[in-house]
Amino acid sequence: MERALAPQFRLYEFAPAPANFGAEVILGLQQPQKALPSKFFYDEQGARLFEQITRLDEYYPTRTERRIIEEHADEIAACLGRGCLLIEYGSGSSTKTRLVLDALEVPAGYVPIDISKDQLLQAATEIAADYPNLEVLPVYADYTAQYHVPEPAQPITRRVVYYPGSTIGNFHPKQAQQFLQSVADVAGDNGGLLIGVDLKKDPALLHRAYNDAQGVTAAFNLNLLDRINHELSGDFQLDAFRHYAFYNPQAGRIEMHLVSLREQTVHLGDNKIRFKRGESIWTESSYKYTLDEFARLAGGAGFAVERVWTDTVELFSVQYLTVR
Ligand code: AVJ
Repeated sequence: MERALAPQFRLYEFAPAPANFGAEVILGLQQPQKALPSKFFYDEQGARLFEQITRLDEYYPTRTERRIIEEHADEIAACLGRGCLLIEYGSGSSTKTRLVLDALEVPAGYVPIDISKDQLLQAATEIAADYPNLEVLPVYADYTAQYHVPEPAQPITRRVVYYPGSTIGNFHPKQAQQFLQSVADVAGDNGGLLIGVDLKKDPALLHRAYNDAQGVTAAFNLNLLDRINHELSGDFQLDAFRHYAFYNPQAGRIEMHLVSLREQTVHLGDNKIRFKRGESIWTESSYKYTLDEFARLAGGAGFAVERVWTDTVELFSVQYLTVR
């Protein structure tokens, strides 16, 4: 479905993201290890809190990735080439996109895809205003579900998916590979993927990034319960759950949980969810890779790693992959 929005662009809407929210939440809370999909963090408040996280001293990924892109913008632009259609998965506020757009030679269009509708519209409006020659085609969708990429008016040389922020880390490795396969299908023949991948490092540094002193990450995690209360008539008491995040070196991932501080029963509409004292809801995984591990994962999904850019101490990487 699509509808006219503003003179400068139309909004493409696919299967409103929140449609399965209730069903997925209840299913997740009925598992032996209670779990909620991390994509549900990003309601309007969650998107705001995540923006705040990206500005924290402890949270190195965003600023490190930005520096890598700034430093190598010309090389990145050369890889993508002229006339590409840039498709951004989870565009959020589109701030890092500007660095890429500034460097690109005559891009054929920009397709931001996001499940935070207000943020998507605001970002698309701002980009359209600042890049008057760029065709902006915003898509309101869950990029892990069904949608299709709109066609710009101009002919394109290739489709390049832009997937920054190491959001790929939210998938378990097998799912990450499947997801990258679907990205290869979207990018198509001659297509590419410009992706941010967070790297394995000192666990103390990782720990701090997900346990910031101001408690913004804790608020981001707990906001999920607040969202459930509002949207699904829940009665979670936020002060009866504790944000708990740690690095699991065997699995190579940060795990975020919300731990019940006491035995309690939570109501979600007609559903009752029982918690033991100390029982957790697993709300997020954030996998970290070595460059070799990621190359193998991407290779299994039909991509070849063309270029890897990192910061000097290899905290984070930006990589350009091409469809094989
Ligand atoms: C947006 C998924 C990349 O895993 O670092 C930040 C989300 N969670 N702090 C990440 C997040 C807690 C972030 N990603």
